[in-house]
Amino acid sequence: MRAAVVRSFDQPPRYEHFATPVPSGGQVLVDVLAAGLHPRVRSGANGTHYTSDGRLPLVPGIDGVGRLPDGRRVYFVADDDVPGTMAEQALLDPRRSVPLPEDADPIVVAAAMNPAMSSWVALRKRISFRPGQSVLVLGATGNAGRMAVQIARRLGAAHVVAAGRDPGRLDLLTGLGATDVVSLAGDPQEAADRLGEAAADVDVVIDYTWGAPTELAIPALLTRRTERSAALDWIQIGSMAGPDITLPSFVLRAANLRIMGSGQGSLTAAGMIAELPALIEELSSGTLTAAALPLPLADVERAWTTPTEPGGRVVLTTSA
Ligand SMILES: NC(=O)c1ccc[n+]([C@@H]2O[C@H](COP(=O)([O-])OP(=O)(O)OC[C@H]3O[C@@H](n4cnc5c(N)ncnc54)[C@H](OP(=O)(O)O)[C@@H]3O)[C@@H](O)[C@H]2O)c1
Repeated sequence: MRAAVVRSFDQPPRYEHFATPVPSGGQVLVDVLAAGLHPRVRSGANGTHYTSDGRLPLVPGIDGVGRLPDGRRVYFVADDDVPGTMAEQALLDPRRSVPLPEDADPIVVAAAMNPAMSSWVALRKRISFRPGQSVLVLGATGNAGRMAVQIARRLGAAHVVAAGRDPGRLDLLTGLGATDVVSLAGDPQEAADRLGEAAADVDVVIDYTWGAPTELAIPALLTRRTERSAALDWIQIGSMAGPDITLPSFVLRAANLRIMGSGQGSLTAAGMIAELPALIEELSSGTLTAAALPLPLADVERAWTTPTEPGGRVVLTTSA
């Protein structure tokens, strides 16, 4: 088969021949229709993701839409220890796949499932989120953040504060459900103070930045809370602004802060997959807006290196 193949962690993948994987133990070989180029795919392909075992060559791609031998289409999440989904064919574990409705667009599903499931799973499985609560999305201008704003409202959030740097994409979030927007651009402490003013009393933070913005935002919010003992669930999902923070001990005593993560490993694969049909329904019915930029798999090297319009998700497609 043809596939995107990584032979060196400091080079983009190239479109090459690669041995077609052989199914075993209940796996099924599917024709891949579409696979998204998510940040997680890039970190896997450059060896920096925490699940990376350093082995090369590898085929990148963590999820996608495939066609089963009987013609049905499915969304599936690839196992960590098999070649990835950026190939003409891939191995599917039926326990990590869900059928696509007739009207589902495979490119939209491939673009949106990974960014959308981050907040969908976080709000539905990691905390006891209740309609009427308020949410801050930190890093709302990316694909996952934009989905988080929409999903929080869809799940009943009364207020959603969207915070991000890019002014154009920040403005768009009001039309997608944000009740307030806060710029993270400029002086970091001033940005944190703006956040503190706008989001002091939220119930939930969905955090895609971590690093400096989070480090400054935690005390900025907590010290301004009307009711310090009201629970604040801070859900760590991405680390676009850095992998670490320093957390002064007093913030954990001075307020009811509960920090947790949501991602691969924070719940079972079965628990995560069980959430996907409802999310696919939302995407198919058009209640969530996603921006997909389809490119042929054969152009993977160009897709990897050409800057794309921010806020869109590249999807590699095959002619299957
Ligand atoms: N745990 C999970 O289940 C899960 C699932 C999906 C994604 N994620 C993670 O979530 C994160 C976002 O994913 P994505 O798909 O939304 O990526 P994306 O579409 O590439 O967006 C990333 C956004 O991060 C923002 N950003 C980058 N550096 C920043 C900084 N220093 N300070 C503030 N904002 C910064 C940029 O916003 P501006 O243009 O406004 O600067 C950019 O739009 C990634 O870390 C990804 O791995 C986790």
